[in-house]
Amino acid sequence: MTEPLILIALTEELDAATRRAIIDVCIAAHQEPDFENLFIYAPTGGRHFLAYDGATLVSHASVSTRWLQPEGHPIMRTAYVDAVATLPAYQGQGYGSAVMRQLARSIDDYAIACLETDRPGFYERLGWEVWRGSLAGRSERGLVPTPEQEGVMVLRLPHTPPLNLDAGLTIECQTSRIW
Ligand SMILES: CC(C)(COP(=O)(O)OP(=O)(O)OC[C@H]1O[C@@H](n2cnc3c(N)ncnc32)[C@H](O)[C@@H]1OP(=O)(O)O)[C@@H](O)C(=O)NCCC(=O)NCCS
Repeated sequence: MTEPLILIALTEELDAATRRAIIDVCIAAHQEPDFENLFIYAPTGGRHFLAYDGATLVSHASVSTRWLQPEGHPIMRTAYVDAVATLPAYQGQGYGSAVMRQLARSIDDYAIACLETDRPGFYERLGWEVWRGSLAGRSERGLVPTPEQEGVMVLRLPHTPPLNLDAGLTIECQTSRIW
């Protein structure tokens, strides 16, 4: 199919109907009711990538700012990708890939991109790489190792320095999650 048009909007610009549609796509795709709280967890500061079939929102991903630190590097302003979802009836038709390609083209102002997934193959095809080294959160009380965590991936951007994917990688702890 021809590449679908992807709209880009800041969280603050999303009207109530679009917020509702984003939540509905995420819940339908992930079977996870907690997406009902998406805009409570992330009320401002996000960048949203939206694919439509006519007036219907069919695929979405968002980026918010987090702070990765690969071992041996300063802390990096990181485009953290969340809420990647395509309506089940539209999956496997290229919408999710188109959303992720547009997202990757629209975050050159960040030093690196990161996400966490149980489906690394989908992202590998789009240039993302699984981090192989040790993972931890950074808290006020020090490092919180996350040895069980799998599927943390990074995308190298134009400003990303040379990386060793086997070195350690940390991210700031958030209230509700580390990765
Ligand atoms: C993962 C997800 C976001 C992908 O979105 P999508 O719109 O289905 O993505 P695409 O259609 O671009 O690609 C999906 C697969 O279909 C394939 N595909 C894309 N267009 C195709 C076409 N025209 N014909 C046949 N296959 C096609 C892709 O190669 C891809 O295969 P891969 O996963 O083996 O790499 C979506 O399936 C989803 O919401 N899943 C449920 C939630 C989830 O798992 N989220 C990701 C984890 S964070």
